[in-house]
Amino acid sequence: MEAKTHARVPTGIEGLDSLINGGLQQNKVYLISGEAGTGKTIFCLQYALAGILLGESAVYVSIDEKPAHLIEDAESLGWGLQKHIDEGKLAILDVTPYFTSVRLGKEKTIDAREVVADLTKKVRKIKARRLVIDPIAPDFQHGSDHTGAGIYPQPHLFH
Ligand SMILES: Nc1ncnc2c1ncn2[C@@H]1O[C@H](COP(=O)(O)OP(=O)(O)OP(=O)(O)O)[C@@H](O)[C@H]1O
Ligand SMILES: [Mg+2]
Repeated sequence: MEAKTHARVPTGIEGLDSLINGGLQQNKVYLISGEAGTGKTIFCLQYALAGILLGESAVYVSIDEKPAHLIEDAESLGWGLQKHIDEGKLAILDVTPYFTSVRLGKEKTIDAREVVADLTKKVRKIKARRLVIDPIAPDFQHGSDHTGAGIYPQPHLFH
């Protein structure tokens, strides 16, 4: 049974928060799973935007979409992201450049520590309280570096 003391953060998704006791549990990591095209990215965008409206900055790690594409997609749903980026409330970390060496065959996998370092900088810069990683790609789950470094959000990011 769940402790009543868990603070909740609203997802901002209509109808969902009331079903899950007001929102997601604060300081927890959630995995949103589903088949292609089932709305995972839309869910994540709504979560980030809801946070911004509540005064919680957000960092969105875009694994396989260029930020411009993500911004364009959001625009088509009537959600302007650029304004929030300009105001320092939203930052998008484009992960695709980290894969350049992999694509060129120079490296087998990306350096997860480098990504984590850059992500930490972005989180600190805008004092982000919400973090989205979309999607969690196999490359990140099974990286070849055996240090245990991953791009999974570390608690210190939020301190
Ligand atoms: N809540 C929603 N309201 C209206 N349209 C939606 C909603 N959720 C998803 N869609 C539509 O479904 C499309 C696919 O959604 P989305 O890109 O979020 O899926 P996904 O699960 O992230 O897919 P993928 O696994 O390919 O990344 C969107 O472009 C949008 O048109
Ligand atoms: Mg998606």
